[in-house]
Amino acid sequence: MPVSDQTLHQQLAHTLSTTDFPALGEKYQGKVRDTYRQGDRLVLITTDRLSAFDHVLTTLPFKGDLLNTLASFWFKKTAHVVKNHVLDVPDPCVTVARRAEPFAIEFVVRGYLTGSLWRDYEAARDPYGLALPPGLKKDSKFPTPILTPSTKAPIGTHDEPLSEAQVLERKLVSPRDWQRAKEAALGLFAEGTKQAAAQGLIFVDTKYEFGRIGDELVVIDEMHTPDSSRFWRAQGYEERLSKGEGQVMLDKENLRQWLIQERGFSGHGTPPAIPDDVRVSLSQKYVTAFETITGAAFNPAVGSVAARLEKNLRAARLL
Ligand SMILES: Nc1ncnc2c1ncn2[C@@H]1O[C@H](COP(=O)(O)OP(=O)(O)O)[C@@H](O)[C@H]1O
Ligand SMILES: [Mg+2]
Repeated sequence: MPVSDQTLHQQLAHTLSTTDFPALGEKYQGKVRDTYRQGDRLVLITTDRLSAFDHVLTTLPFKGDLLNTLASFWFKKTAHVVKNHVLDVPDPCVTVARRAEPFAIEFVVRGYLTGSLWRDYEAARDPYGLALPPGLKKDSKFPTPILTPSTKAPIGTHDEPLSEAQVLERKLVSPRDWQRAKEAALGLFAEGTKQAAAQGLIFVDTKYEFGRIGDELVVIDEMHTPDSSRFWRAQGYEERLSKGEGQVMLDKENLRQWLIQERGFSGHGTPPAIPDDVRVSLSQKYVTAFETITGAAFNPAVGSVAARLEKNLRAARLL
């Protein structure tokens, strides 16, 4: 059951753009999450902030709840593949996590030739040292998923692609950590692919963050959400591919294309304002992604996220 546009419109006035809970610990504000540190624990609050091309653009109704609930769904589903950071989810938009020492790189896994990698390929760039064969079509499937790591860029800057050799030369992670994180990333991607297929979706690509707790490898941050992943509808994929048509997307690429096509914005200069009807339709995309991926309904309650959050943090004795 999709959520009505009316509900999403009503929620526009109640979105969570930022939080301020000094009692939760030292705060780090990322693009999407507000992270509070309490010793070896983190309280990650997924706000309703929407980012694209490394800029925060606006907020979307229920985005924080949708993302955090979806990430915890995936963390549970994949706990047998690799340990994750989750300790508790005391509110739909909050994860209490074990604090890890994050690796300085992002682990991007791709099953298909699309997005920035397609743009590189078309321009004969090979920043990841993949040596892909010539003549591949846009959106075509790789024989096996590939890893295209990048640096973790600070806010306002762009991630830099890395080859495996560069990761090791620059000692961004140790060879052992690289090896096991790589295996974990591919294992998680296989699990995502399986679940997505069961829901009629293609799991196109995704980004993981890993870290260490002592000697233990853990997957941290978020997982398999529309913010960190691409999903396509499986039905009609082959036909669209052979006709050279774009795929049906369930992810943030919708927003990126709107920004490029309607506003000529691809990350440089001042980001444009996002009209309310666009905010509602983007929120609707997140709802659709949530419901399609999980196979469960999303039942939102209109109202102040901030007030609910505070109540739940108190009930969990975090405040
Ligand atoms: N368990 C964890 N331990 C340490 N750092 C984490 C953990 N989980 C997430 N993080 C970090 O918290 C931040 C989450 O906020 P986010 O809005 O995603 O930030 P960013 O703008 O850097 O992507 C990220 O920098 C991520 O690397
Ligand atoms: Mg992030």
